[in-house]
Amino acid sequence: MLVGLKELLNQCKKNKTAIPAFNVYNLETILAVNQAANHLNSPVIFSFGESYLDDVPIDLIALNVRFLAEQSPQSMVLHLDHAKNLSTITRAIDCGFTSVMYDGSHLSIEENIKNTRAVVEIARDARVSVEGELGYMNPEDGSYYDEPGNPDHSQFTRPELALKYVTETGVDALAIAIGNAHGLYQGVPHLDFSVLAEIAALTDKPQVLHGCSGIPAEQIKKAINLGICKINVNTELALGAVESIRQSIKMSPEVNSLRYEKLIRQTKADLVLLIEKYLKLTSN
Ligand code: 13P
Repeated sequence: MLVGLKELLNQCKKNKTAIPAFNVYNLETILAVNQAANHLNSPVIFSFGESYLDDVPIDLIALNVRFLAEQSPQSMVLHLDHAKNLSTITRAIDCGFTSVMYDGSHLSIEENIKNTRAVVEIARDARVSVEGELGYMNPEDGSYYDEPGNPDHSQFTRPELALKYVTETGVDALAIAIGNAHGLYQGVPHLDFSVLAEIAALTDKPQVLHGCSGIPAEQIKKAINLGICKINVNTELALGAVESIRQSIKMSPEVNSLRYEKLIRQTKADLVLLIEKYLKLTSN
């Protein structure tokens, strides 16, 4: 069934659990997320990024996800990821997204609060949940603003500003920066759990951790225990799908020996395994 983010994450906050959000941008990624969630009886979040708008019509994504979610007994959220434009947010709401993320993390705190509050007002009327972000990470394409593996602490979320941001905007969930980054980490990341604990002590809003591909399982579990209720995963699936395609081609190098139908069947099966790994990690 299709549900809002707010209901799902508030439940997680009580139970100290989290739900993974996987980026989807074509039928294979959508089908893989759906198959894995149904197989493991897990709630799940389908996350469509504003950056994919030129690749696929947002309405088509909404139709596919809504169709599958309405047939499933699992709680499923259709979420808009990293939207910087109000026009994308209203489009997503119009075509049935149950959750939107406004990303004003690159702006001053005042501007971020003003814009996020406007999004919350629009979303409230449509009964759609809102995720906001405070503290700055590298861009979603995985490129770095700073030396990779050496995060800039001045960009981390400041706990007292986090309290101000959630109080003044009314968001349902808060994405934070505590040493997490989009894309591949060079070396082992070390999340700053003291910042997370301080934020969690100041506000009972569920927290969101972006950039979870490559964060060691023990750190993800500790973060969940301290208040993270949603973990975002993209890079591991995006690279995993390409690796699956590489292997398929390597095993069938002759022309005519590998057809597209067979190739995508194998890629989807490999995606399901990666997705299930994160569903299992967050469910126990
Ligand atoms: P990764 O690509 O690093 O897994 O991050 C995904 C993400 O945070 C999407 O919002």
